[in-house]
Amino acid sequence: MPDDKVLIFDTTLRDGEQAPGCSMTTPEKLRVAEALVELGVDIIEAGFPIASPGDFDAVRQVAQQFGSKTTICALARCRNDDIVRAGEALAGIERPRIHVFLATSAIHRQYKLKMAKEEIVRAAVEHVRLARQYCDNVEFSPEDAARTELDFLAEVVEAAIEAGATTVNIPDTVGYATPRQYFDAIRHLKTTVGNIDRAVISTHCHNDLGLAVANSLAAIEAGARQVECTINGLGERAGNASLEEVVMALKTRSDYYGVSTGINTPRLCGVSRLVSSTTGMVVQRNKAIVGQNAFAHEAGIHQHGMLQERTTYEIMRPEDVGFVGTNLVLGKHSGRHAFRTRLAELGYELADEPFQKVFEDFIVLADKKKHVYDADIVALVEQRGSAINERWTLKRFHISAGTNTIATATVELLHSDGRALCDAAIGDGPVDAVFKTLERLTGLEARLEEYQVRSISEGQDAQGEVLVDVVVNGATYHGKGVSTDIVEASAIAYLKALNKAANASQVVESLHGV
Ligand code: KIV
Ligand code: ZN
Repeated sequence: MPDDKVLIFDTTLRDGEQAPGCSMTTPEKLRVAEALVELGVDIIEAGFPIASPGDFDAVRQVAQQFGSKTTICALARCRNDDIVRAGEALAGIERPRIHVFLATSAIHRQYKLKMAKEEIVRAAVEHVRLARQYCDNVEFSPEDAARTELDFLAEVVEAAIEAGATTVNIPDTVGYATPRQYFDAIRHLKTTVGNIDRAVISTHCHNDLGLAVANSLAAIEAGARQVECTINGLGERAGNASLEEVVMALKTRSDYYGVSTGINTPRLCGVSRLVSSTTGMVVQRNKAIVGQNAFAHEAGIHQHGMLQERTTYEIMRPEDVGFVGTNLVLGKHSGRHAFRTRLAELGYELADEPFQKVFEDFIVLADKKKHVYDADIVALVEQRGSAINERWTLKRFHISAGTNTIATATVELLHSDGRALCDAAIGDGPVDAVFKTLERLTGLEARLEEYQVRSISEGQDAQGEVLVDVVVNGATYHGKGVSTDIVEASAIAYLKALNKAANASQVVESLHGV
């Protein structure tokens, strides 16, 4: 591997999914994996196969579908069963990697593992060797490396490489490191571990102190050549290093870092939106690179400077990260050709049938709304894309609500078998009444856990985006809906979550032969 190439290891499907409330179904993981492949990540950590049959199945399916396009990695503790299960999940694919981890810090040795240093080294060696029996590409992580004594860390790393590890990852598991300290740790390994040239050094930084990206970049300066990161910085607690921030820092400041990645950066915002709507984790407006305000210039002096010369206040071009702003693009009279051209400019190449459906949605929207913005078009495509394989779709609804009246909703759904279903219910306000009706129609007992609403573009007729988390049978499902009518957006979002719950119970039923 050339020394100026940094490998991007995406762990959105594993560490990212460990974030509270961010679990994804297997079809959702497959969609995210496909987007990550198109983004150009070098390694996808698809999950932790031993954790559950569902996790195993998801890793297996991601591996089967994408294992010839990019490296697919499965996580395993230093336990024989974990490694066997990881090996099984990756079996037969072209580019497998097993990621074996074991904690090394004094705190973890004493309280969690109750193991002496020698036992840790022995276990690491034994399990890296076992993993090598399944594939040639093995990564070893001394968990909590950033709080491990440097001499012991070097000893474990050297032993793991000797046993066959081809990547040594140095996790800052609890986000405790500072950039200088993390730089020194990587440098220490680079200069004291005798066989370090036989492995790639990797970073894995958590963001508890908001330093995950800074620490990852410091490690690259010290010689690390793989960064473990997630889309939108998703992950345990405060999350992991954000992929889009690391990648754009390396690209924008290539004059300083002198390295590059294989990431197709114009896809960054699209993948960010996909992960956000899949997990229900909203991206903060002022988030670097992918936040709604990332390229907004409010101050007059900035706007003036921008008009004279863009680079006065802009260090990256929005199009280089696929940023979709609030550009006024199309209206009611824009034709099919203009619409297709704009879709292509936004990165969507749709086949004739899905194109026709999205175009019809566009006509309906343009009738309701004077200005159709890029963000509206993206929402139309995403809404159609996520509607595939849904058991119920919303046909129409009527609400009656107001002060001193009982909110009532009447809803008609279309079942995938062609039946029209109609029912009504009352509730605490129009949204609640619609939700209650949807529960009656689908027969699912559901509890709304989270409800968020925001506007996705400008103006009084802007579309509202509703995100819901709905609990059915103890599991949480996310749903997203977009419409100029908030009640309709809420109904679409709720129904989307109920469809996911129905699909999940179908999977469970088929697993149990029901
Ligand atoms: O944070 C961590 O230490 C991890 C390991 C499994 C690499 O996620
Ligand atoms: Zn982690």
